[in-house]
Amino acid sequence: MESIDQLIENNARWAERVRETDPEFFTRLAQQQTPKYFWIGCSDSRVPANQITGLPPGEVFVHRNVANVVQETDFNVLAALQYAVDVLKVSNVIVCGHYGCGGVQAALENFRHGIIDNWLAPIRALTRAHKDELAALEDAAKLDRLCELNVLSQARHVARTTIVEDAWLRGQELAIHSWIYQLDQGILTPLRDPITCAEGIEK
Ligand code: CO
Repeated sequence: MESIDQLIENNARWAERVRETDPEFFTRLAQQQTPKYFWIGCSDSRVPANQITGLPPGEVFVHRNVANVVQETDFNVLAALQYAVDVLKVSNVIVCGHYGCGGVQAALENFRHGIIDNWLAPIRALTRAHKDELAALEDAAKLDRLCELNVLSQARHVARTTIVEDAWLRGQELAIHSWIYQLDQGILTPLRDPITCAEGIEK
C-alpha cells in the first residue's frame, strides 16, 4: 500500500509531466473551467469519471455519492446540478452507475447496514416496484438488473428537477444520459437514448 507521503510525491511528478507537454496548462485552467459534461456517478473508487472517459482536468464537472442517487431533497446534488446547468451551461448530464454496485446490493439485502439504508430508500422502493421482474432472476442477474433500473430511474429524476425543466423551457440544449459501467471490462454502455426534452422522459 502507498503511504500518504507517496501521494504528494506522485502529485509533484504528475504536475511536472503535464507542464512538460503543455507549459500553459495550469495557468490556462486556473483562469476558467468550461466543462461540457456534468457527471453524476457512484463514489466507488473503481469508477473515476475523468479516467474512464479519457477526459483531462477541466472537462467534466463531477458529483458522486453512494449508488449515484438523485433525490429531489438532496441539496448537495441539486446545488451541483444547478451550477452545472445554469452557470457552466453544460450540454450533457451523465448519470453513470456500474454493475456490481455495493450500494445497490445493500438495497437488495434484508438486513440493517446503518444510515445507508435511509440513503438507499429510493433504490429499495425500486426493488418493490420491480418485484416480479427481479424475482424471476438469479442473484447476480438480479443485482445487474437493479443497477440498470437505478441508473434509468435516477436519470429520470434529473430530468424532472425544476433546474432541468426550466432549462428546457428557456430553450437550453441539455441531454440527460443513462450509462452503466462494467467493472471487469472497463466498458461504458448507454442504457437508453438520451433524454432531451420533458416529453422524452418516459420514451
Ligand atoms: Co457503486
